Amino acid sequence: MKHFAIAFVLVIIVTVLVILGLSALDLVPQLASAEGEFVDQMFDVQIYIIAFIFSLIVVLMLYSVVVFRRKPGDTSDGPHITGNTSLEITWTLIPLAVVIGIGIWGAGHLYEITASEPDEMVVEVTGFQFGWRFDYPEHGVSSSELYLPRGRQILFKITSTDVIHSFWVPEFRIKQDAVPGRWTELRVTPTEVGDYRIRCAELCGYAHTTMYAPVVVVEPDEFEAWLTGQAVERPPSEDLSPAELGAQLVEEQGCLSCHSLDGSELVGPTWLGIFGAERQMEDGSTLVADEQYLRASILEPQSQVVAGYPNIMPAAYSFLSDEELDGIVEYIKTLSE
Ligand code: CUA
Repeated sequence: MKHFAIAFVLVIIVTVLVILGLSALDLVPQLASAEGEFVDQMFDVQIYIIAFIFSLIVVLMLYSVVVFRRKPGDTSDGPHITGNTSLEITWTLIPLAVVIGIGIWGAGHLYEITASEPDEMVVEVTGFQFGWRFDYPEHGVSSSELYLPRGRQILFKITSTDVIHSFWVPEFRIKQDAVPGRWTELRVTPTEVGDYRIRCAELCGYAHTTMYAPVVVVEPDEFEAWLTGQAVERPPSEDLSPAELGAQLVEEQGCLSCHSLDGSELVGPTWLGIFGAERQMEDGSTLVADEQYLRASILEPQSQVVAGYPNIMPAAYSFLSDEELDGIVEYIKTLSE
């Protein structure tokens, strides 16, 4: 009985220390969504349970090793123990009850997290190798940045153009797969104004680790102003010069998540100074980046891979019209002037 009392006290002390230690680690970033509160509650309870089970096992084991070790000169056999049915039933039933309890609790939270509020706003999210595009169908706005108003529920409708990605903003806590050929849903109510970042949480290829997009949560009036500004900034394409049309397209199509405009190294070659330059190909040949070269690079990227870069650009841009292709080529030319 004395041993049980001492071990019990030690288990409680170690449990508290483990909880304090894990809490000090800042395992999750600042919380910025209403739905995330449920996740954090459950995460905290999990930490408590994990700390207790860890302490129970480690304390009892170390206590037995130290206190019940063989005394010097003792060569007798230990007691022959064949089993303990009531102990085995106990350590089966208690974890079973804990796991079922967490399951029921989690299902209740999941129901609340996915429930629709009447004034929710739809944002369509398209993941692609290797970036994100956002459409606001109720407002006719597209963006490469995810702007959101604080305090309003957002219904994200998520899809992908190529492979499976996963939409994840750690500050919002919850995530959802982006699957080609179907729309998945996720509801988030941002609660804190701030700048965050989407990460892709599904291994999706060469530049998976850099598949980011900015998230900006602002007050509702500021959000309205941003929407209005986006609509004004995008006049109909017939009013644009070819280079202006190209500048708009490369932003919308996400080209800039792999190609920089300022010479910095991303997954693909920078466009700065590319027009008219000699390009060293993977197969050892040399090409001059003229208009024909740029068009072919967009339409059939696998046909001419620049040395030192992976052959990963999707051949997914044949939907671009001649006019749009010309626009992109004209825009890339302006980066060599
Ligand atoms: Cu997209 Cu990982």
